[in-house]
Amino acid sequence: MRTSRTRSFRIRPLRRGVAALFAGVLTVAALLAAGTTAHAAGTPLRDLAAAKGKVIGTAVTGSKLTGTYGDIAGGQFNSLTPGNAMKWGSVEPTRGSFNWAEADQIVAFAQAHDQQVRGHTLVWHSQNPSWLTNGTWTTAELSGLLQDHITTEVTRYKGELAAWDVVNEPFNEDGTYRSTLWYNGLGADYIAQALTWAHAADPSAKLYINDYNVEGVNAKSTALYDLVKSLKARGVPIDGVGLQAHLILGQVPGTLQQNIQRFADLGVDVAVTELDIRMQLPSDSTKLAQQAADYKAVFDACVAVTRCYGVTVWGFTDSDSWIPDVFSGYGAATPYDENYAPKPAYDAIAASLGGGTTTPPPTGACTATYSVQSQWNTGFTGQVRIACSGAALSSWKVNWTYGAGQRITQAWNATCTQSGAAVSCANASYNGSVPDGGSVTFGFNASWSGSNPVPTVTLG
Ligand code: XIL
Repeated sequence: MRTSRTRSFRIRPLRRGVAALFAGVLTVAALLAAGTTAHAAGTPLRDLAAAKGKVIGTAVTGSKLTGTYGDIAGGQFNSLTPGNAMKWGSVEPTRGSFNWAEADQIVAFAQAHDQQVRGHTLVWHSQNPSWLTNGTWTTAELSGLLQDHITTEVTRYKGELAAWDVVNEPFNEDGTYRSTLWYNGLGADYIAQALTWAHAADPSAKLYINDYNVEGVNAKSTALYDLVKSLKARGVPIDGVGLQAHLILGQVPGTLQQNIQRFADLGVDVAVTELDIRMQLPSDSTKLAQQAADYKAVFDACVAVTRCYGVTVWGFTDSDSWIPDVFSGYGAATPYDENYAPKPAYDAIAASLGGGTTTPPPTGACTATYSVQSQWNTGFTGQVRIACSGAALSSWKVNWTYGAGQRITQAWNATCTQSGAAVSCANASYNGSVPDGGSVTFGFNASWSGSNPVPTVTLG
């Protein structure tokens, strides 16, 4: 079964060394007026999450795991979920003929980047192969097919996955069981059987039931709660519940933390498994600010409950999100835009995880803060934020000197020139004014090698 797999081993030192560099040095601000202000920025989300004892994951598409997409997926997250690659229709499109290529690739990538993998998903009503859904099966045949499927797939990745979303979306909105191939053919106990078979195949993987619209306290989440309670009472192996969290802008349920807590109190883990927050397109700065607040609310709720295992976003970039395909007119649901620039939601996640803590500037000052937003082998994206409190600017210029040969290749929302190591960035025609209490941000891409220390910036 494992013949075509290449095993890769955990490679830690190099990559974690880069992460340590991020964590250690990004503390610079320059003041127009008096004093100095220290800002911590740019620490990868995975390091912030780890410091809080949380896992931060993203769904990924195997074929995209190179270039900037691969750098962010590997650099910012410590868990991956295959978006589609482990679904039954993907792994066994023809009966008895398996295709593990994308799933194997994602597992290998995760291992090379010291990441966990969340298996998704074994028993679902959707994305099944047509030979299965079009077939006519007796109860015994259907049960045998499901047992074989679970045993084959879980065994293949035995010992390599942190968790499995064993059963996906079993409930209707009113808390009754969804009418599916499985429920109709096998009865409600297909859930207990699936968990039992999965546990037999890999006793070390944490086994979850995963669903949507179960984030707040409602009829559906209460049905899930009652199910988990009865499974535990029966001794069925159930380790956690997955709250998918495909949310709409401004609609984070007020009972999210309370709901996570009640599952935790039952003795199971809770994971937010598929977070995205969609908005009606086009996006604008008001919507992006609301989205940032919404992302922060979800992460805050997870951080607040010890048994909340972590949060996985369903795609980290708007260029790899299912939302526009499925919810007409909606999009911009993830923390990075289509060009891999971090959105306000990214900063909000970092803030929830304890990063980006800023010491407020002394009154009567404008400050410039330099941060590395993301970094890959040969380049990085930087940002400078100019903020005023008790003072204001009508134009600005920010200067710094690179200490390790970094070179700016492109800038936006400022005009940047570099001469040798000296960089000077001046406001664009439209953003010279920084009012009291306001801020302006510009960004740039640059190359680096060896090391990427954060320079001291001066605002003039
Ligand atoms: C989605 C994928 O992201 C899409 O690429 C695919 O076309 C459909 O499925 N709930 C789930 C996920 O559990 O598996 C779904 O993923 C999104 C909803």
